[in-house]
Amino acid sequence: MFTVFIVGTAGSGKTTLVSAFAEWLENNQYDVALVNLDPAVEYVPYVPDIDIRDVVSARELMRKYKLGPNGSIIAAIDMLAVRAQEIKSQIMDIGANYVLIDTPGQMELFAFRSVGSVLINRLSVDRSAAVFVIDATQAQTPSGYVSSMLLALSTQFRFNLSQVNVLNKIDLLDKPVIDEILEWSEETDLLKEALLSDQVNKLEADLSVRLSDVLTAVGTLSRPIPISARTGEGLDALYRVLHNIYVGGSDYD
Ligand code: GTP
Repeated sequence: MFTVFIVGTAGSGKTTLVSAFAEWLENNQYDVALVNLDPAVEYVPYVPDIDIRDVVSARELMRKYKLGPNGSIIAAIDMLAVRAQEIKSQIMDIGANYVLIDTPGQMELFAFRSVGSVLINRLSVDRSAAVFVIDATQAQTPSGYVSSMLLALSTQFRFNLSQVNVLNKIDLLDKPVIDEILEWSEETDLLKEALLSDQVNKLEADLSVRLSDVLTAVGTLSRPIPISARTGEGLDALYRVLHNIYVGGSDYD
């Protein structure tokens, strides 16, 4: 059993990716279990095998305890951590090859609170990995790219799992723009050049250049995999990298 947590900023395409990747895996003869861990989501385009909203609903908590939208999500995630063992048993009972876990939309309420790591540890079955979804439309400017990669890096540190970064929504960008983003991940000098020529605000340019040095120095981030959860492009490449992690190879080919 391979547990894959799909994480990323709000609206980056986590839910769409869970749906599209599950379909891809099923078409390739894998049994897939789908878990919705977002207590506040209104609609999911797939039928979850386990839906956290059946256990705890953020909307209900809002009403019952007069909480705001974010407070209710925090309360829901805290309650989930207590029920994690029960959820894990349900996951194991399904007995699928792949378990795809859709995480809460507001990633900071989940990934950057210690209960998020606790929940991830408690729900991991056998081998596990995280897929960090970057919205390509946000990463197409040099400073947007740096902030996306910093978020990816902090998630990697928080969860301490093998992590694959994907650049989603490439169907919305022209090929030269996608190629440029990918070059930034391989050539720090190109990224710095782009940062310095792009910025109108010198302070932001200086800060982004420094941050890009930090990213390079840490050196644990690899080139994101370009995908489109909408068209299915790149899902085969995502599968290959995940499969490598599953069978115990290196994170990236
Ligand atoms: P929250 O959980 O609400 O934060 O969102 P999410 O990260 O689960 O994103 P979701 O899958 O709901 O997608 C957000 C929007 O982006 C939706 O309108 C999707 O249709 C759209 N979207 C997701 N993936 C893609 C993609 O690859 N290409 C395009 N063009 N749109 C996409």
